[in-house]
Amino acid sequence: MKRTLVKHALASSEPREDILIQGWVRTRRDAKAFSFVEMNDGSCLKNIQVIVDASLDDYQRISDANTGAAISITGQLVASQGKGQSWEIVAKTLKVIGHADSTYPLQKKGHSQEYLREIAHLRPRSNLFGSVFRVRSRLAQAVHRFFDEHDFIYIHTPIITASDCEGAGELFRVTTLEHDAKKGDDGLIDYSHDFFGKSSYLTVSGQLPAEVFACALSNVYTFGPTFRAENSNTSRHASEFWMIEPEMAFCDLQGDMDLAEAFVKYLIGDILKTCPEEMNLFNKFVDKGLQERLKFVLERPFQRVSYSEAVEILLASGHTFEYPVEYGTNLQSEHERYLTEQHFKCPTTVFNYPKEIKPFYMRANDDGKTVAAMDVLVPGIGEIVGGSQREERASQLEAHLSAHDLNPEDYWWYMDLRKYGSVPHSGFGLGFERMLMFITGVSNIRDVIPFARTPGSAEF
Ligand code: 4AD
Ligand code: MG
Repeated sequence: MKRTLVKHALASSEPREDILIQGWVRTRRDAKAFSFVEMNDGSCLKNIQVIVDASLDDYQRISDANTGAAISITGQLVASQGKGQSWEIVAKTLKVIGHADSTYPLQKKGHSQEYLREIAHLRPRSNLFGSVFRVRSRLAQAVHRFFDEHDFIYIHTPIITASDCEGAGELFRVTTLEHDAKKGDDGLIDYSHDFFGKSSYLTVSGQLPAEVFACALSNVYTFGPTFRAENSNTSRHASEFWMIEPEMAFCDLQGDMDLAEAFVKYLIGDILKTCPEEMNLFNKFVDKGLQERLKFVLERPFQRVSYSEAVEILLASGHTFEYPVEYGTNLQSEHERYLTEQHFKCPTTVFNYPKEIKPFYMRANDDGKTVAAMDVLVPGIGEIVGGSQREERASQLEAHLSAHDLNPEDYWWYMDLRKYGSVPHSGFGLGFERMLMFITGVSNIRDVIPFARTPGSAEF
């Protein structure tokens, strides 16, 4: 007999004489003449209830069907008399496929997220994490659907790279050299002897290669793992995370902000529609205002405000911040959250940042002070999108490279895009985990990624 997933069994339109269900025992209750087994196979949030009659030959095995054990049940799918479920199974056979004894860590409900992080190999079997990772999967599908519907071409940009796109120096080196490798005259390791004949790193962004493809295929995006050796132990930074980066030729900052807003709304709308059970769970147990907030976000345009206006608002707020607000410095998370949570009370797109605090590739504005950058800030998190119009003028770009102490020769192919058929183009990066945090209400990035990599932590 072919296995039926619990989600399909529960969505059945009629009873079935024979069904095979396989999964893990959540709970078991023994009565005199039968046992109730609650089974879950991860295909949906709900368990399916199985009734095992004491008269069955296999009933002798029931004592091994403990919480956490893997079991295989054949039986009849019948309408349930109990409340809260449509179908249940009257077992004909019961097999215990994998035992679990009383040391199984998920015995009772209601473990803290911190505790579950320590058993990251078992936490997907909890209701909360099962839900988070089903939504994560749907969200990834929605990303691809959005771009497919908008005529974007999916590009697989490299994970190993020789350029530091963001120029923040937060790079993980990729090397096959040992620490006692040959040193140059300066006493430093000579990476020209390394595997790729030069220094190479794990990518911090797929943007530069995405620009290459946008300047040929018009609208492209990349969606892949991204690495940052940033030593910040916050609830919204991971050392390995996933980023979605669209890049559009013949597009300015305005078009970029429009796309970011449409994209964020599409993702929210999709998950509200496709994952109602999971969203109800998050709303009940993680964040009581979640669904209301997301619907509100869907219905209203995002607020747009320039960086200098944002600074003025913060200075005039009378609010005491841990980090002082000053024109020319980066907005801290507390500033971002003040703008979006207290002041505008909705997602906020901040644009035109001072050039000193932004990477070399952003397009210089005519004021000589700012660049055509934009960040989307959302309540509870702060920045989820960072993007810009790119500098498409060769001479300007060269000036930016030197201003950032970068060698134009290292960027010769990037410069070539400005030499041959250069066009205004724009793009952004959306942090996939931050988007997932926003949608689920889960407040720590470690809890929306299967196995978190953060400073000092790469267990599992
Ligand atoms: O603002 P960032 O650094 O922008 C870029 O990398 C651009 N090259 C993107 C582009 O224009 N194509 O990063 C983009 C987004 C941030 O807004 C944030 O959501 C996420 O990536 N992000 C992180 N997410 C988790 N952990 C980290 N350490 C992150 N750093 C950035
Ligand atoms: Mg940023």
